[in-house]
Amino acid sequence: MIADLVIHNGIVVSADTTFPASVAIKNGKILAVGTADSMPQATETLDAGGLHVLPGAIDVHVHFRDPGYPHKEDWESGTAAAAFGGVTTVFDMPNTIPPTANAEILAAKHAIASSKAYVDYGLYGLLGEDTIAQVPELVDGGVIGFKLYMGNTFGKIPSPTTGAMLEAFEVVAPTGKRVSLHAETNSIMERRQARLTAAGRSDPLAHLAARPAVVAVEAVSRAAILAEWTGARIHVLHISSAAELLPLAAAKARGVDITGETCPQYLFLSSDDYARLGGIIRLNPPVREQENQAPIWNALVDGTIDMIATDHAPHTPEEKTRNDIWSVDCGFPGVESQMPLMLTEVAAGRASISDYVRWSAVNPAKTWGLYPRKGVIQPGADADIALVDLTRQWALQDSQLQSRSKISPWDGRKVCGLPIHTLVRGRFAMKNRELVPATKGWGRSVHTIQAMPPAVVRNADQTMQAVLKAPARGAVT
Ligand code: NCD
Ligand code: ZN
Repeated sequence: MIADLVIHNGIVVSADTTFPASVAIKNGKILAVGTADSMPQATETLDAGGLHVLPGAIDVHVHFRDPGYPHKEDWESGTAAAAFGGVTTVFDMPNTIPPTANAEILAAKHAIASSKAYVDYGLYGLLGEDTIAQVPELVDGGVIGFKLYMGNTFGKIPSPTTGAMLEAFEVVAPTGKRVSLHAETNSIMERRQARLTAAGRSDPLAHLAARPAVVAVEAVSRAAILAEWTGARIHVLHISSAAELLPLAAAKARGVDITGETCPQYLFLSSDDYARLGGIIRLNPPVREQENQAPIWNALVDGTIDMIATDHAPHTPEEKTRNDIWSVDCGFPGVESQMPLMLTEVAAGRASISDYVRWSAVNPAKTWGLYPRKGVIQPGADADIALVDLTRQWALQDSQLQSRSKISPWDGRKVCGLPIHTLVRGRFAMKNRELVPATKGWGRSVHTIQAMPPAVVRNADQTMQAVLKAPARGAVT
């Protein structure tokens, strides 16, 4: 058999180990991993001398803004940014216009994404107060999972009541899909923001004051209780505080199917950066006091936090630099800076390259039922590969971003580690730090390969559906 591509002289990285090997690719899949002389003949070869061969990162939290906000991002610019960041699969959030809340809107988003994407993707469906009835059609229409906004953030999607959340979990649990949570409690934040505004506060730190860690602690705890009651799978997005690690760890210990992600901003920025960055740093949940950084890092190392994502949230410079903090759009781009930022810590000896692969690829793939098709370099897996120079020292620069959002907190930051080539199912999306335009539209939805084992549904006899079917009191049946 003749392979399409053989990569020679690289160092392959898995969750457990690193080893020198050649990698053969055929029809988008990995055909063989082994010594150079065991490789089949190939149409094309690549010398990866000096490079590490990583499973492409899976970023389970991006906002590509399409449809709705083409001046911020679209599927083409967002997935080009992913390719430059060594990211080969992204999960896109539903706070687009219109929000991804029914089968028709989902189908339209699939059509847009499949025509423009350089990398593979999953689409989140919106789980809100009024979209519970749409769960079956969204599952049939191919969502990777659901997103539930417990607190207000960009897009102003209303937060469901606890009553609606419980019912939503009851309905999603038997589908096996995971519910990802923006875990900040809205009613606390609303009161505090109103008081701060009335008191005349409009400085950047007022944003943090409106959303202290208790909003996350309360939300994670409450969501974990509802997940435990129903058996629903949940995922805590953008973990920002040391305090919320306690309810997360406790829920894991009780056997709740709960996972968590953090993002580089919570590991590397702190409240000390608000004066320097102004509105640029505004995001939800907020970057917090420095004492949160080490516990979050340690939770990643010990597995309490399962993975790294970015919450890539592009906005324009004008939208990020308004004087009144309450009018600054929340979030900033991150899909192409995550890998260099994290690899810098690997270079500094804070983690191994295998740790990084576990956080960026293996665990996301396992959590959403994509493993071992994705997240690993072994025969039979999709050839989603980031070829990375772990020793390259450079500086992140907003002006060089593929993202349409050329404003981030990382501008000028020195990093060590650079993705040189990115392959998506065997095709170069980025080669030698250049986009490969022919790969536009090659990205496909990964829901078709998703295999989630059934969830362990609990209290099925007490769901809304069950009690509404029960006979009226005193009725003869
Ligand atoms: C996100 C956005 O801009 O869509 N903003 C943010 O501050 N994180 C929304 C979100 O993930 O909360
Ligand atoms: Zn969020």
